[in-house]
Amino acid sequence: MNLNRLTFFTALLLSSTVFAKEVPVQKVALVGDRIVEFIPAGFDKSKTPSLILKAEPISKGTVPRNWRLRPSFSLTDDKAEAVLNLPAGVSLYGGGEVTGPLLRNGKTIKLWNTDTGAYGVEEGKRLYQSHPWVMGVRQDGTAFGIIFDSSWKAELQTESNQIRYKSEGALFRTYIIDRESPQAVLKGLAELTGTIEMPPLWSLGYHQCRFSYGSEQKVREIATTFRDKKIPCDVIWMDIDYMDGYRVFTFHPKNFPNPTALNDELHQKGFRAVYMIDPGVKQDKDYNIYKSGSANNVWVRNNDGTDYIGKVWPGDCTFPDFTNPQARNWWSGLYKDFLATGIDGVWNDMNEPAINDNHLPDGQRTGTMPTTIMHKGGGDLPAGPHLLYHNAYGRLMVEASRKGIMDANPNKRPFLLTRANLLGGQRYAATWTGDNMASWDHLKLSVPMSITLGLSGQPFNGPDIGGFLENTSGELWANWLGFGALMPFARGHACAGTNDKEPWAYGEAIEKTSRIALERRYRLLPYLYTQFYNAAKTGLPVMAPVFFANPADMRLRKEEQAFLLGEDLLVIPAFAKDPELPSGIWEELSIVEGDMSDKYQAKLKIKGGSIIPAGKIIQNTTEKSFDPLTLIVCPDKMGTATGQLYLDAGEGWGFKKGDYSLLSFTAKKTGNSLNIKLASKKGSRNPETEIQKINAEVLINGKVYKGSGSLKSGIQVALVN
Ligand code: NOJ
Repeated sequence: MNLNRLTFFTALLLSSTVFAKEVPVQKVALVGDRIVEFIPAGFDKSKTPSLILKAEPISKGTVPRNWRLRPSFSLTDDKAEAVLNLPAGVSLYGGGEVTGPLLRNGKTIKLWNTDTGAYGVEEGKRLYQSHPWVMGVRQDGTAFGIIFDSSWKAELQTESNQIRYKSEGALFRTYIIDRESPQAVLKGLAELTGTIEMPPLWSLGYHQCRFSYGSEQKVREIATTFRDKKIPCDVIWMDIDYMDGYRVFTFHPKNFPNPTALNDELHQKGFRAVYMIDPGVKQDKDYNIYKSGSANNVWVRNNDGTDYIGKVWPGDCTFPDFTNPQARNWWSGLYKDFLATGIDGVWNDMNEPAINDNHLPDGQRTGTMPTTIMHKGGGDLPAGPHLLYHNAYGRLMVEASRKGIMDANPNKRPFLLTRANLLGGQRYAATWTGDNMASWDHLKLSVPMSITLGLSGQPFNGPDIGGFLENTSGELWANWLGFGALMPFARGHACAGTNDKEPWAYGEAIEKTSRIALERRYRLLPYLYTQFYNAAKTGLPVMAPVFFANPADMRLRKEEQAFLLGEDLLVIPAFAKDPELPSGIWEELSIVEGDMSDKYQAKLKIKGGSIIPAGKIIQNTTEKSFDPLTLIVCPDKMGTATGQLYLDAGEGWGFKKGDYSLLSFTAKKTGNSLNIKLASKKGSRNPETEIQKINAEVLINGKVYKGSGSLKSGIQVALVN
């Protein structure tokens, strides 16, 4: 190469190399107990509004002098980036909805909500949600977390020595929480981004779904079969085919001619009905929702002022611009008549938004709107490009949906499920992990995926049990339900064109196994409901990683087969091979006849020192579950145990005015007997109307000792055979 050419190449290289410009931190403020806000110089809220925080943080004094964790900011070509250098030996978690392992060291995820059906189990796939959040756990079990408060398209790299968040947009704020444990850090995350609202009790039951139960007749048949076969279930789901030509807020005139009668009938059988609503509105001049949206000027527009049109199920669709408060209000208003048919819950799908642009030439296909489209904004939100608002589209949609559901039925707790969301979006909707596959890989992946969502602020989540895409075998179904029935959100679902995937679809033996799995869930509802109460109050996950049992035990940091339900119950799925389990006393327990000898059921272990409240087997949550209440007790080394039970009406808001009962039980061993009593009670609800009798089962060294009593008398259990 001659000298001239070399100079030419060097010049070319220099001109195309864009250097990162460091941006100093302009403001550091303490905004909570060991929560520090870092704002880079030049940060502008009108370029990066917060769609993540539940409220503007307020300064609460000075930052501790020894505060170590400090991010640095930079701009490259106007694209903002933040880096947090890490101390050695930190285990990283979080990032929301991710494939790959629970432990996130050395991973990169793309934050760009995408409909990635059949996403595969290897890491690095774009998924439906964005959670710019990472939690680090130090070797001593203390922990920290960092929020990158931005919805711009981004990449999140979790290297072992640093966390790097590279956005394609303007500067943003970060929040760092540094506390004594991962649990305390998650509470800090909830202080900033909020918690779930207490869900209706029925939504903790089992849900049965399919794409789609295509007629009222079919829905009735499914409902009746659950009851005839005595397989517990609370909810039947209507996927898109209930609609008239996939027009949202309509019903198919032939196949779903009378939704009110159908919903009534379901209610009489103790079921609830959840119906799907997508954001795409069919462009059809004779369709009232399209006409009303056009008249109200709510659609996302191209930059030339015409309505943006994208293809979804109904063909050409317009899309509400949820960044705009008038559009959100309009959307909220649509739910009233819809829900008046007796619909109990809503499922918002395709809200990344997913757009089928297969008609465009390759290279132009993005599966969503063009990033340059400008959204209107309004209220607190500035006008901004899709590149900024894409990751918040689903989150803004569910904010509007939730409000609509609340306005329509102010005395009920909404149940809303969403596919797309953003960190903090747990305030509006529960979630599931999208279009997984009927495969063993996906079965195993569903555990770390759900745990990670819980570690990212979203406790109310679960996978499509059995796998959505492709046919499911009886073996796969039984194994999956054997632990899936113990996940926070438990729903079986199946894609169009796949085999039947109801619990009875695989022959008698698997039907029996399915019944046992679901009976276990229903027996554990009092405990599960109490965990949801904790999640709603504190932000702690319902399904937690095993290392939560002892964050300083490095052995447990990678464990992603077994999981904890609350703090006191360990769930070891049947597929688990050599799981790393916490040390100390953990007694295996049986809660349904035959569960311990059924090879598909997850193993359940109760922690030494705890008391778990269990109900009886019921077919759905309209039945009384608490009489008798069973207290499962596992004393610690000192012979003591404690546990809680939260109960309320299971529906409505009375609990906010005191109509609840939070019972604390204690147990103490003296000599050959164990004394269990109600130690304290909070709330004005009288638990004795619901709980007349209590049974106790005490587990010590593989033996079970039984006794019974009442809330008043307590229980004396003789520890002799
Ligand atoms: C995509 C969703 O992920 C899936 O659960 C649903 O069945 C289909 N859309 C059809 O609505």
